[in-house]
Amino acid sequence: MTGQRRVLDGSLAEAGSVALIPGGTSGLGLATAKRLADGGVFPVLLGRSPERGKLALEHLDGRGAFVPADVADEQGVNAALDVAERHGPLRVVVNCAGTAHAARTVGRDGPMPLRDFQAVMATDLVGTFNVTRLAAERMARLDPVDGQRGVVVNCASVAAYEGQVGQVAYAAAKAGVVGMTLPLARDLAGLRIRVVTVAPGLFETPLTLAAPAELREQFQAHVPHPRRFGRPSEFAALVEHIIANPMLNGETVRLDAALRLPAR
Ligand SMILES: NC(=O)c1ccc[n+]([C@@H]2O[C@H](COP(=O)([O-])OP(=O)(O)OC[C@H]3O[C@@H](n4cnc5c(N)ncnc54)[C@H](O)[C@@H]3O)[C@@H](O)[C@H]2O)c1
Repeated sequence: MTGQRRVLDGSLAEAGSVALIPGGTSGLGLATAKRLADGGVFPVLLGRSPERGKLALEHLDGRGAFVPADVADEQGVNAALDVAERHGPLRVVVNCAGTAHAARTVGRDGPMPLRDFQAVMATDLVGTFNVTRLAAERMARLDPVDGQRGVVVNCASVAAYEGQVGQVAYAAAKAGVVGMTLPLARDLAGLRIRVVTVAPGLFETPLTLAAPAELREQFQAHVPHPRRFGRPSEFAALVEHIIANPMLNGETVRLDAALRLPAR
């Protein structure tokens, strides 16, 4: 650890702590994994694609582990938690798995298929809860450090507050993540586990880079200052602060450069 930046100083300050990062093979999750690994934390990435997992571990210079699983699957998440526990005390979870689905409630082909709505809910909302409940039970077995056992950071979106045309499923799922932040924090307070949610605005990740350049420029024009997409490293910096600051709990923090999404 000599010369290495310590992420958890002052709070969950054990060297060699482990962070489980669902959705950690790309975008915001991967940037977070890198920042935590640079600070001496061992990241365990959970995702559905083994190819992406391999590439992500290369990006991390091998500092971490990957477990193939779906966030909504109890067995898969438990397998990832087993791996995490083999590498040290699991003090941190950063729920970054998410999927976007753009469709109107009633479109040209009729009502949105219910399964499309349910698929977004399954990953973004049910998956977040599934990982949190199973991870919290493992964290509860740890000895507290400086009065804390661990912290769960969730990822919502500004769409939780200002869902646009075509974002009904995504906005509902993310609003669910915002809505469960306080009751989760209250439920887990007795176990000395904090729960904090970040609601990002627009960030440069595979999720948004998939959109046509013209559409991305339109989106960017709505960002007051700085007028650009956020960098994943800026999201990771906030997660690191949340981990280190024991007074942050039960709250959703917007990270959006003052963006308020218009209807379309
Ligand atoms: N990029 C943005 O502008 C932005 C804005 C607001 C919110 N978000 C949220 O941030 C989070 C991270 O998104 P990102 O921008 O890094 O996109 P991303 O596509 O790079 O990352 C999402 C990750 O989740 C994984 N994933 C999807 N479904 C999964 C499942 N069922 N089980 C396990 N893993 C699954 C994907 O494989 C991917 O690695 C998401 O929850 C997203 O909704 C992103």
